[in-house]
Amino acid sequence: MTITFRPALLPRDLPLLADMFVASVMELGADDYGEEELAAWASAAEDEEAFGQRLKPMLTLIAFLDGEPAGFVSLKGNSAVDMLYVAPDRAGQGVGTALVKAIEALAVGRGAKMLSADASDMAKPLFEKLGFVAQRRNTVDLGGVWLANTTLTKKLAELPAGGA
Ligand SMILES: CC(C)(COP(=O)(O)OP(=O)(O)OC[C@H]1O[C@@H](n2cnc3c(N)ncnc32)[C@H](O)[C@@H]1OP(=O)(O)O)[C@@H](O)C(=O)NCCC(=O)NCCS
Repeated sequence: MTITFRPALLPRDLPLLADMFVASVMELGADDYGEEELAAWASAAEDEEAFGQRLKPMLTLIAFLDGEPAGFVSLKGNSAVDMLYVAPDRAGQGVGTALVKAIEALAVGRGAKMLSADASDMAKPLFEKLGFVAQRRNTVDLGGVWLANTTLTKKLAELPAGGA
């Protein structure tokens, strides 16, 4: 089982990212969130153009498990994990963990001192395992439906002088 990465290319990868986003939310989110909450969350990718506009300023990495698309992560600015979504049939195999580690390394390379994430209830243990510390509980308004998440932060190690 090999996990590889490449940066997402927009707009070419938009349909792939939107499909993974919706499938991930609807199938993996079902244990922690209700139907109405899931539909409101997944609707962020319904309008592909708007989803593309959200992704455009971010650095997005796509993970492949044995060559098949398995998930993606997006870094907003230098220091916020904005999206982390794993394909339902690839869940529980370390893809989410590998994506966060990879984006953390890129954030360090960009000089970030801290990395933050507003994590779903499902993703919170993954971030905690990687050294993120919960700071506060949030409720987010998604078109009239309120979703709970948790802001976590991690202090990043500095690059040694002269770079990695
Ligand atoms: C949260 C998410 C990204 C995790 O991705 P993943 O690739 O399954 O995560 P990993 O395989 O790296 O697992 C990390 C930990 O989560 C747990 N886990 C993940 N999937 C699991 C599953 N299907 N069943 C049980 N535990 C699971 C495991 O405890 C694992 O810890 P371990 O290393 O001790 O086994 C994925 O479930 C997802 O995309 N969820 C829906 C969207 C979402 O909530 N995104 C986060 C927004 S911030």
